[in-house]
Amino acid sequence: MSEPVRSRPIGVFDSGIGGMTVVKELFSAAPQESIVYFGDTARLPYGSKSVETLQRFAREDAELLLSFDVKMIVVACNTLSATALDEVERKARGIPVIGMIGPCAHAAVRTTRNGKIGIIGTEATIASQAYEAAIEEESRRAGIRCEVHSAACPLFVPLAEEGWTEHLATELIAESYLKELRYRGIDTLILGCTHYPVLSNVIQRTMGTGVTLVNSGAAAASVVVELLETEREGEEGSVSIPHGSPEHRVLVSDVPRKFQAIGERFLGRKLPDARLVTWKEAWTISGSMEIPS
Ligand code: DGL
Repeated sequence: MSEPVRSRPIGVFDSGIGGMTVVKELFSAAPQESIVYFGDTARLPYGSKSVETLQRFAREDAELLLSFDVKMIVVACNTLSATALDEVERKARGIPVIGMIGPCAHAAVRTTRNGKIGIIGTEATIASQAYEAAIEEESRRAGIRCEVHSAACPLFVPLAEEGWTEHLATELIAESYLKELRYRGIDTLILGCTHYPVLSNVIQRTMGTGVTLVNSGAAAASVVVELLETEREGEEGSVSIPHGSPEHRVLVSDVPRKFQAIGERFLGRKLPDARLVTWKEAWTISGSMEIPS
């Protein structure tokens, strides 16, 4: 028999360190919950990959988390949320799946004062136009009109992975990526990649204090908390929290030590030892060529 829902962990995954920005928010919004985190550092970056490849990664990543009997999956990656959320939902078979796009679009529409919203993300996220669609739906619901401007910022991902949070190179790259959005007069900027909050000081300085940054992690964490409360009510007829202290696990597909160091610096707290996981799948070459044995 499986464990009661409340004592099972929440599964969170991303291509690398980015999902830690979501974990940070979950630690503060739901400190009693255990988390299993997977960072697919061997296959990072996701943002420059094709939709077909991203869908395969999404299925494989979800399978890994499901083997830990997670009660919910948080797709802490905007790229996969924009291109492969339904793949994760299919794999999860009824277990709730929370992506980044809906919660962020909701927060941005409720934040903007002048109706001009900017989105920055990976190439795949921006190309998907998933944010434009979600913002259109949210603004219709809120009864307002929004103008949306977007920019892909692919170099922010390796800068965040390197921990170059206050580096001159980061300042120069930010200026080059963001000046057009500044010129457009947006007052709200969606950090549409979970890696970007690692660089939020530089991004805020570049955009100016009049622009409010919307962080995917914070927006998604509030949806997770709502869902946990609903599930607890369903399970016991009252809102309750798991007993005992939470147990967290961190899994990565490459270089665990580097991940751990940057993750701990970012979270400002110790993490359990990051464990290495590898895919034990047979590789095949397309066409008739065979892999020599
Ligand atoms: N952090 C991810 C996102 O939110 C993916 C970054 C990448 O691997 O390119 O899109």
